[in-house]
Amino acid sequence: MKTVALHPDFGVEIQGITLLDIVCSDALHRQVRELFEEHSVVVLRGQDVSDDIQATFARGFGALEKTKVGSGGAGTFYSRMNNIGPDGAVVAPSDRAMLIARANQLWHTDSSFKKLPALASVLSARVIPEDGGGTEFVSTRAAWAALPEARRAELQDLEVMHSYATSRDQIDPAMMGADERAALPPVTWRLTWRNPVNARSSLYLASHAGGIAGMDEGRARALLRELMDFATAPQRRYVHTWQPGDVVMWDNRATMHRGQPWKGGQPRSIVRVTISADESDGIDSVRPRAAAPARAAELQSA
Ligand code: OGA
Ligand code: MN
Repeated sequence: MKTVALHPDFGVEIQGITLLDIVCSDALHRQVRELFEEHSVVVLRGQDVSDDIQATFARGFGALEKTKVGSGGAGTFYSRMNNIGPDGAVVAPSDRAMLIARANQLWHTDSSFKKLPALASVLSARVIPEDGGGTEFVSTRAAWAALPEARRAELQDLEVMHSYATSRDQIDPAMMGADERAALPPVTWRLTWRNPVNARSSLYLASHAGGIAGMDEGRARALLRELMDFATAPQRRYVHTWQPGDVVMWDNRATMHRGQPWKGGQPRSIVRVTISADESDGIDSVRPRAAAPARAAELQSA
């Protein structure tokens, strides 16, 4: 097994082993887990990917999320995102599948809008467009560390409201019906998530983030925009250009990602398995505290 760095801030490619090797060896699994905790994005190329091996590999890192209603693969462990219709032809640009792809082109971390957020996602690209359709990543751990210390001290107690509607409404307010809205009420998380393995904190932000507890909406939106722009500055990005057989795993606590557009009319099919976070992943560090709204009001009036 050999490792190659992908970006100065984060990301590692593991060469010379397969998903099956990892699933069959506790020692290899531990090494991959360590690389994941340290580098936040782990790439394995040239894999012979099936749904089963992808889910079995992911299950080694924690309990798997069930895909939510309204997404491809709802009710299973697989989130299937593709623009190929039942007749085998690429769907129209107005099709829901393309709206979903466009929503994934906003910087986000997966599942921050859920009651139980996600530790990690494991994505395999099954059909790749000839032109475009890569995925970009940034390290929100590196972004947090790059903020001046005084700024971190000001911000660190803030709590952010995340809602699926916030991101979907940016694409098309008709994307979510009343039922889906009622099923996915906003949730609140602290602005940072601390990794218990290495004690490093990261900004926990996403296109789902729409408000800050105790702060008026305009101020909150402006601050969220400022932090998103800071975290996603061009020099912080690793662009994954997909090849058949690639599997990419990322840490949803410590990264954001977004899809890149591709030329119309080309098929694209990706399958994601998502791992829920638990106490051992530091979930308590991101849970709201009673004093945060007062702290936000102080910051706002300062
Ligand atoms: C995802 C996602 C981006 C892409 O699968 O979670 O955001 O490139 N994908 O499709
Ligand atoms: Mn995503």
